[in-house]
Amino acid sequence: MEAEKRDAPVRGLEDVLAAETRICYVDGVNGKLYYAGYDINDLAKKPSFEECIFLLWNDRLPGRRELEPFREALVREMTLPQPLIHWFKRVPARVHPMVMLRSAVSDLALYDEETEDNSPEANRRKAVRLVARVSAIIAGFHRIHHKQELLEPDLKQGISYNFLRLFTGRNPTQDEVEAMQLMYVLHAEHEFNASTFAARVTASTLADIYAAVTAAVGALIGPLHGGANQKVMEMLSGIEDPEGVEDYIDGMLAKGKRIMGFGHRVYKVEDPRARHLRKYAEKLCKADTASRYYEISRRIEQRVIKVKGIYPNVDFYSATVQHALGIPVEYYTTMFAASRIAGWTAHVMEQHADNRLMRPRSLYVGHLARRYVPMSKRKG
Ligand code: COA
Repeated sequence: MEAEKRDAPVRGLEDVLAAETRICYVDGVNGKLYYAGYDINDLAKKPSFEECIFLLWNDRLPGRRELEPFREALVREMTLPQPLIHWFKRVPARVHPMVMLRSAVSDLALYDEETEDNSPEANRRKAVRLVARVSAIIAGFHRIHHKQELLEPDLKQGISYNFLRLFTGRNPTQDEVEAMQLMYVLHAEHEFNASTFAARVTASTLADIYAAVTAAVGALIGPLHGGANQKVMEMLSGIEDPEGVEDYIDGMLAKGKRIMGFGHRVYKVEDPRARHLRKYAEKLCKADTASRYYEISRRIEQRVIKVKGIYPNVDFYSATVQHALGIPVEYYTTMFAASRIAGWTAHVMEQHADNRLMRPRSLYVGHLARRYVPMSKRKG
């Protein structure tokens, strides 16, 4: 029997166009990023995370009278279901917060009466709950893990303020809220990255939004995707003397190792998000006299560009910004999830609205037509 003839597969689906979308456009050649047609350089200036979520879900910016109730509806949902809070207490101390988050998102489906309703209206209500609760889960788990009391969200404030308040237990400063807002906005969406694609594949089977987001969180864990920001901080904190940066980088590259937070599948030039985070890292590190991470980061960046010609991606400076915000390193990737949930939910709704099952083919390179040998006649 002869195998059907097929073209060579596209390894890593590089440059494959898997579906149409109106949510986000990445121009990797010119280093541009647009959410529903709006340049990230404009969105990074002032708009809030809530405005950004509204844009991704509705393909337009909200009016003044729309934004306020939208913000409040989101913040209201930052109160977690009681069974989930009890479950936090049973999670072993050694568990990584991303592993906890993957299970917690899946768990949320148990307490939502609309889990299996894939109508656009139910999806929208569940998306509100998911966006609000992912941030609340991260903050709540952190508090419980440290044997601290859970706080209620402040309904007059937005997600950025409330996340910091629920996480740290104190009211954040205006500068901290601004930095958090920038983190949320810059990480909110990035077309068919691995986690979003995982969400869309899952949604394309007409599985529910919780199933799709659970798949997405799982994909985000890996160090080639969202897990990179934690690896960046591990690298930065392992370099004691900024003078040793060049030798460290040269040594890593000589061993064929990857420098975390550098390179990108789509951007051939600088990732536009890195520019904004670099600026904030500098600003926050100046205020934090104990931090030498900005200086080390700049030297790493200059060396990697010089030797390899590759640029920092979103994860590189996000590590320093999160450090300056007082977020523990093992939580960095969860913060990526707390932002990207905006994009994941937008993509699940877009997929459900015009669905076609995602089912590619593989190129079979194994044996064909082998004769089955009974156990009694096999060697060994
Ligand atoms: N450090 C060192 N070299 C890197 C590199 C990195 N971070 N990223 C890419 N390269 C090199 C590769 O070794 C390869 O070099 P070669 O042609 O001399 O062999 C070249 O750049 C192309 O790399 P390739 O593996 O084809 O790129 P990709 O599209 O498969 O990889 C990433 C994209 C993101 C997986 C990759 O850049 C990477 O591993 N980065 C580090 C992890 C990270 O920061 N992830 C977050 C992404 S937002």
